[in-house]
Formats: sequence, C-alpha cells, structure tokens
Amino acid sequence: MLEEKLTENFSSLLRENRVFPAPADFAAKAHIKSESEYEALYRRSVDDPEGFWGEAASELEWFAPWKKVLEGEFPDAKWFTDGKMNLSHNCVDRHANGALKDKVALLWEGEPGEVRKITYGELHGEVQKFANVLKNIGVKRGDRVAVYMGMCPELAIALLACARLGAIHSVVFGGFAAHAISDRVNDSACVAVITQDTSYRRGSEIKLKAIVDEALQKCTSVQHVIVYQRSGSPVNMVEGRDLWWHEAVAAASAECAPEWMDAEDPLYILYTSGTTGKPKGLVHTTGGYAVGTYLTTKYVFDLRPDDVYWCTADIGWVTGHSYVVYGPLQCGATVVMYEGAPNWPQNDRFWKIVDDHQVTVFYTAPTAIRAFIKWGDQWVKGYSLASLRLLGTVGEPINPEAWMWYHREIGKERCPIVDTYWQTETGMHVLAPIPGAIAAKPGSATKPFFGVVPEVVTKEGDPVPAGQGGLLVIRKPWPAIARTIYGDHARYVSSYFSEIPGSYFTGDGARRDEDGYFWLMGRVDDVINVSGHRLGTMEIESALVAHGKVAEAAVVGRPDEMKGQAIAAFVTLEEGVEPTDALKQELRQWVAKEIGALARPDDLRFTQMLPKTRSGKIMRRLLRELATTGTVSGDTTTLEDFGVLAKLKETDE
Ligand code: WT7
Repeated sequence: MLEEKLTENFSSLLRENRVFPAPADFAAKAHIKSESEYEALYRRSVDDPEGFWGEAASELEWFAPWKKVLEGEFPDAKWFTDGKMNLSHNCVDRHANGALKDKVALLWEGEPGEVRKITYGELHGEVQKFANVLKNIGVKRGDRVAVYMGMCPELAIALLACARLGAIHSVVFGGFAAHAISDRVNDSACVAVITQDTSYRRGSEIKLKAIVDEALQKCTSVQHVIVYQRSGSPVNMVEGRDLWWHEAVAAASAECAPEWMDAEDPLYILYTSGTTGKPKGLVHTTGGYAVGTYLTTKYVFDLRPDDVYWCTADIGWVTGHSYVVYGPLQCGATVVMYEGAPNWPQNDRFWKIVDDHQVTVFYTAPTAIRAFIKWGDQWVKGYSLASLRLLGTVGEPINPEAWMWYHREIGKERCPIVDTYWQTETGMHVLAPIPGAIAAKPGSATKPFFGVVPEVVTKEGDPVPAGQGGLLVIRKPWPAIARTIYGDHARYVSSYFSEIPGSYFTGDGARRDEDGYFWLMGRVDDVINVSGHRLGTMEIESALVAHGKVAEAAVVGRPDEMKGQAIAAFVTLEEGVEPTDALKQELRQWVAKEIGALARPDDLRFTQMLPKTRSGKIMRRLLRELATTGTVSGDTTTLEDFGVLAKLKETDE
C-alpha cells in the first residue's frame, strides 16, 4: 500500500528549480536574519532540546516551574513536567495586565460588513465572564465541552474560557452535519455545547442551533446548550437545557481566576480523519502546545508588535486553533477574524479586508489561491495591498504556478512566502521556512522548525538518499505533538508509532533535495485532502453503505485542479435497485447530510461489482486510475468494465 501510493505520487511530482532568497530589508528587521543564524539555532535546538525549549518556555508565564523540560520518548514523551500554567492567562491576562491592555486583540469583520474591535483588556473581561457562565452551569476542570459555531469573536472567547477553567474544548467545524456532531459529542461525553443561532455564509444563514438540536437527539451526556445570538433569527430553546449567551453573561460576575493547569493536562480534543471510518479525537495538552504554538508563530510569521495578522482558516480546524487563537494571542498580536466567504458579496472581499484593516501578515490555503487565480486578476488590481509584508500557505502542497501568482499578484514580489507543513497531530508547524533566513523554493515547505528532526525513509525505516521519494517521519518528540487519541491510546500508538518503530510517521510521502529542502508528495494512506480538508475514504464509504439502497462502496481521491483532490465514489446497489441519475444525486446529498458538504462525492459511479483481490481487498489503485484517467467514462460504467478489470487482476496474481 505505502509503496504503491508513493510510486503514484512520485510520478506526478514536479521538479522546480527556482529559488527566492529572503529579501534583504525583510531579513534586516527579522527575528532571525540569516541562514547561518538559523543553522546555529537549529543545531542547538537538536543538540540541547532542554536548553532550547526551556528558554522558549521562559518567555511565557508559569504559575509554578517545570521540573524537567522533556521526559521520556515516543510515544510517551512529556514536556515541562510538573509545570503549572494556563493558556487563557498567557493569551489574555499576560497582555491585559501589561503594555498591551489597549491594543486590539481581535479585529472581526462579519460577512454583512460589521466590524468589531476587542482590545486585550476587553477580551480579559469577556473571557472571565464567560468562564463564570460555564462555571455556573457546573462545567469544571476536565469536563468536555463541544463548540459548534461560526467565525465570530465569541468562538475565540468560548475556547479561552474553557482553557481558563481547564475544561477540554472539542470544536466541531461549523460545516459538519448533525451526525458528525453527535458522534464527536458521544465519543468524549461532552457535558455542554456552545453554539449560536445562525451564521452567515455567502449571503445565507447556516442554522447552527437547529443542527445542534438534531444532533442532541442522539446524545445523553449534554446537560446544557449555550446559544450566542448572532443574527437574531428564531431558534427553538429547550427549557432547562438551553440558555442565551448574552443573558448568562449579563448575570455572571466579572472575575474568574485561571486554574493552575499541569503542563500535561489536556487543553482540547480535535477530531480528524484517519484510515478507518471513525475520526480520531486527538488530544492536545497545555504546556508543550503553548510553547510550540507560541514559538512557531513568533519565528515563522516573524511577528512583531505592530503586525495585523490574518489567518483565514476556520477555528473548526487545527490551523484555527493554533494560528488564529493560541499562537498569535500568546504573541500579543492583533488577530483579524472574518466570518464569511471570500467571494461575498464579490470576489475581492479578502483584498478589501487587507486594505481596510492594513493587514501585514496573511496566511491562507493553496485551494483559496487557486480560486483567486480562476476568478481573475481584475479582482486584485484595484487594491494596494501595500501593508502586506509576509504571506503564508498551509494545508496541502502548493503548485509552483499558484506560488508564483501569490508571490507576484499578492506579495508584489516583495513579501516572503512561508509554506508551512504540519498536521492536526503535530499541533504546530514542523516544516516551514524562517522567512528572514531561508530562501524559498516554490512548492517546498523547505526546512524543519527548531527542534524538529524529520527524515525521509523507506518502509523499513532506512534513510533514502537525497532526491528520492520515501516516507516522512519525525525522529524526536517536539513539544506540541498530540499526546493521545481520546479514549484509545492503543490506536494512537498503532497509527503513528508502529509503521516505523521509534519514529513518528506522518502518513505523508516526501523527498529531500540536495539542499536539504523537503518536498511533500501527498498522503500515502487512505486519507485524502480536499481543498486542504482532510477526509478518510473509509468515513465516506461508511456513510454510503449506511444508505438502505447501497450494498458496497469504495471511495478514492483523484487529482483536481482546484481542490487538490476530488472525491470519487464507486457504488454497488442492493439487489433490484435501479441505478438512476436521481439516485446518484440522492447518494451524493446523503453523504453531505451524514458528514457535511465537504465530503459530498464529486463523482459517483454505479457498478455491479468492485474490483477486488482474491483476498477480498478492494483494489483502490485501480479505482484511482479509473477515476483519474477516465478510462471508464462516468455515466456508462458497466459491469463488464469492472468484470474485465477484476479478471485482469486475477490472471495477474
Ligand atoms: C495533512 C494534514 C495543519 C494544517 C492543516 C491541515 C497536508 C498540510 C501542507 C503543506 C504539503 C501539507 C499533509 C498533512 N499538508 N500542510 N504545507 N504542504 N502538504 O491539517 O487536516 O491535519 O492535514 O495536510 O498531507 O498530512 P490536517
């Protein structure tokens, strides 16, 4: 499986030779100013991780000191043992009690156009009040709280309030369906849900509260639902269970001391797709995650006091957790949050926001960049974008053409681009250029962040020579790595540490070039990346077979110019069911209803059988080929095509 995927991925890999050195004027003002400075610090971080990370941690506030910076090894490494701290204190109080009290912490723009600016001082007040609301309904340290909201300041406040109490938040992306919420709520037995009436997206309203109501029909652990009133649209409030955010906050007292959390206490759970049907609840802890997100934000975005920082990711994904909330707020940045779609009311919305709020650091996904390119340069031309000084990308490999466009049209050939490679599991950037020090190569995530020891290896774990493709592993623990999968530590160990014993296996293929730059080649497992969102093929298959008319389903990813990968589903129907176009649409819609619109198959083909090996394994490679090259055309897929293919394989064996 691994080898098969690698060969496929490798053959599609572009070779790119252009190099873009860090601009001298940028480097002159940067935290890290040269490659040699990076090299020296990197070497120190690897030779003396305790010294390096201990110093980084000292830039934050601790209630009680740690005894040891790093204890143990994969998969049980612990960071800053016995140290006590609180992330909400480090994100908010530390600044509100100091020089940044009146600095804008959250600069929010609603899709309809309202703007709210919340200073660190004000945020301090809001977080304490909302933490008291949670306390008043009985939420305590260690309890799980689900959060299902759109992008509004209250979402960030909700997370910080949970962190303040030591309650473990579990954010469910607002685009997920009811079923996905109930699965996640039940997996970790959440005691409360925080949501809002509706959220705006592309001019219409997403009925978040109504979706929560539907989800909670299948949940017994939830005692309370807190509803933030965003639009004022009518919602159903359940007596004794549901309360309004604004009413509860008005009645709450203004002061709430932060809990002293142990460095290894859980901070949050975030579910992500794996290779089985059941999403994994990755658990991130307090101290190491704090230090890792703080230091990567500081160095990779080269944050300075006057930055206006905008990461366009939704807080429903790890990018939003680490680089909208915890990283930049620990750095005391002004963080821009935008509620809606990039093309509302028209295709220039992002550039209007950049100019209106004088954004200096802008971080988005390749899929968004490809959409901007498709919409046309005329949407960018009317804007100055002169405030920008640094650009970033994340989520999938960026194709060199998109990189060049970003560099030229948005960065005006002036701004370095940081291509940041990381995962829900890593918690923080693990490969990314330090922008004043490392020259960029379009399409490469460049070099490891401090303390991270990546290697490209064979499936036996042996290093491969430069230029060759292999599996990307990380040899040594870093502070922000997720510590476990909620309720299933054995799955954590087998998912990440059994493939290559002694190392963390990322699930990605990569090659390292002669200059030591890393080039990501895509997942080598059954995880696909659709518009920078990670989905398990098994998850979509499970949703399909849950439909009464479906007998069997196989789902694969195929390359897609806009989304990176598109979802192709092959479906066999129950005896006697007619394969109609209407049913095709019904099944695509069914998946959207079961998981969320992002999982809706782009292609769905009916077949009378799936190509399988003798041992009964679906031959996904064959299906990927079919979905990619179109040797079997969509609507005329017939039994014979697969019959022939299946037979061919049989004679192969
Ligand atoms: C997978 C992780 C953590 C960021 C959001 C996605 C792919 C992520 C890059 C990049 C090439 C990338 C990998 C990885 N990926 N960033 N800069 N270059 N590939 O988090 O949902 O946990 O997905 O996204 O395949 O394994 P995620």
